[in-house]
Amino acid sequence: MCGIVGILGREPVAGQLVDALKRLEYRGYDSAGVATLENGGTLTRRRAEGKLSALEGRLEREPLQGSVGIGHTRWATHGKPTENNAHPHATDKVAVVHNGIIENFRELREELIREGATFGSETDTEVVVHLVSRELKRGQSPVDAVAATLGQLRGAFALAFLFAGETDLMIGARRGSPLAIGYGEGRMYLGSDAIALAPFTDRVSYLDDGDWVVLTHDSVAVRDADGKAVERPVIKTAASAALIDKGNHKHFMAKEIHEQPEVVGHTLAHYIDMAEEKIDLPHALPFDFKNLKRVSLSACGTAYYAGLVGKYWFERFARLPVEIDVASEFRYRDVPLDPGNLAVFVSQSGETADTLASLRYAKEHQQHVLSVVNVPTSTIARESDVVMPTLAGPEIGVASTKAFTCQLAVLACLAIAAGRARGTLSREDERILVRALIETPRHMSEALAIEPQVEQLAHTLAKCKDALYLGRGTSFPIALEGALKLKEISYIHAEGYAAGELKHGPIALIDETVPVVVIAPYDQGFEKTKSNLQDMVELSRRAYRPAAVFEKTVSNMQEVAARGGQIILISDPKGVAEGATESLVTLTMPEMPLSVTPLVYAIPIQLIAYHTAAVMGTDVDQPRNLAKSVTVE
Ligand code: F6R
Repeated sequence: MCGIVGILGREPVAGQLVDALKRLEYRGYDSAGVATLENGGTLTRRRAEGKLSALEGRLEREPLQGSVGIGHTRWATHGKPTENNAHPHATDKVAVVHNGIIENFRELREELIREGATFGSETDTEVVVHLVSRELKRGQSPVDAVAATLGQLRGAFALAFLFAGETDLMIGARRGSPLAIGYGEGRMYLGSDAIALAPFTDRVSYLDDGDWVVLTHDSVAVRDADGKAVERPVIKTAASAALIDKGNHKHFMAKEIHEQPEVVGHTLAHYIDMAEEKIDLPHALPFDFKNLKRVSLSACGTAYYAGLVGKYWFERFARLPVEIDVASEFRYRDVPLDPGNLAVFVSQSGETADTLASLRYAKEHQQHVLSVVNVPTSTIARESDVVMPTLAGPEIGVASTKAFTCQLAVLACLAIAAGRARGTLSREDERILVRALIETPRHMSEALAIEPQVEQLAHTLAKCKDALYLGRGTSFPIALEGALKLKEISYIHAEGYAAGELKHGPIALIDETVPVVVIAPYDQGFEKTKSNLQDMVELSRRAYRPAAVFEKTVSNMQEVAARGGQIILISDPKGVAEGATESLVTLTMPEMPLSVTPLVYAIPIQLIAYHTAAVMGTDVDQPRNLAKSVTVE
């Protein structure tokens, strides 16, 4: 993930910017740069491909003296890791550093080029620079120019702006990707996290999603997404002591839930050519999807549920049969495996004993072994023929959250790649499905907006002894994952079922004391409308061709309601309008293409578990009896 730093200082800041960037190295990067205001206000940049030492060398040869500056470590998404593509991007009026994805950069870029702008890079970021410059040229103030620009951007991102001639001004904005403000004595800072700011200050506040901030040396003015002035609490951080901190969250799990738009975006960028809207796997595969007869998929716990969603995608996109099993069964089941097929293993830690044993079994039976892992140095990664990393960063909470959605992101990319290779997806299908993935981090950040409602609901759930989760299609594994999350951190007994299975037994459990969480994105016919989003939803439906099961889930829901069950319906505006009559609570997700609902609907089920456990006062990050990495059978 890219790292952002900004300093409104009183002495030359280039060295401090590089020091702060070094603390963000853990996020991964392939080029870096800084910009400062020289001689009272001229924007001057130094950028370099590769490691920070290259940038330091550049600064030694061509030093900068400005006391106000921004810095960036870039992890390439749009365009190669070259000096030209490195941030800051700038005109003579404004310089910008950026983390995340500007989804609508192509439309904006075309519009700006038509108006005469010249672009010096292949990045999505550069449109931001030109948009702000256009507003400045129209006579807007820097603050109004940024406000007007933010209104035109779609995506999940964080930005920091520096303006020519404005030695007492810096602006930051957060939408989906994190940004923190550091408070010094007559100095102010911006950073992707408190870790970057630790050498300068331990007084930090975090922007909420949609916030943007206007900083001077002595003042901080935060506005929310509606432009209303707001205050965000200043907290003392311990980031200087530990590299990994909880930010302004009470638990690592909460922080990790909130990180998902950013880390999923980061992971997707590893597998997607954003400009071409196509899958671009980082390494050639040692097998051809066309020659595969079947895929065996195996994992444990949450990783297994990610695999289960993957099965739906592989079968739908690539018409490739997937056999899936929990690793503790797979390893002993004496599974017949035809040589030359593919075996996929999913694991956050990469050390899970049963998953590793299953991998070794698959190897012995001449399978191509591909692993989706979060720890690239792990045993599972080392023993695989192909490693597809999830770029979730360290996951500290024992209950897996961000690793899960990153696993989904990788599996979706792999299934689309398989569909293309096997000719079951056209180039246009691929473009539509990839476009849907590119927009997912934004939908995830919108989904996080239901948190206050979930906090309320948690007070009811915390009194329950049992809960059920229901879903069909790719929402079935999300139901399983929802039940697992609730069990493991709140200790409330919960079960996930395929909604159609309800009447085959579990319905006997229903009474007025049992909440039933129903995960049901609307999937019936979509009328053609003027809205781009709806066109996108409709197009992706054609590329994805899912079965329409919403009405069936609603009828299962009615069976629950008829027996006094308390329904919590998670759906989108259409689903809520059609199915909400019987429910106790509805949690409304944004409308989105059906192919990506598992990634977004994971958020409400994680929040339900988290807030219920928080109300109950359990040890959320280290629940009883559980270990983060299960290296024994
Ligand atoms: C649940 C959870 C576990 C893990 C499982 C596999 O929140 O974290 O179910 O998913 O133990 O672990 P990894 O992914 O490390 O193989």
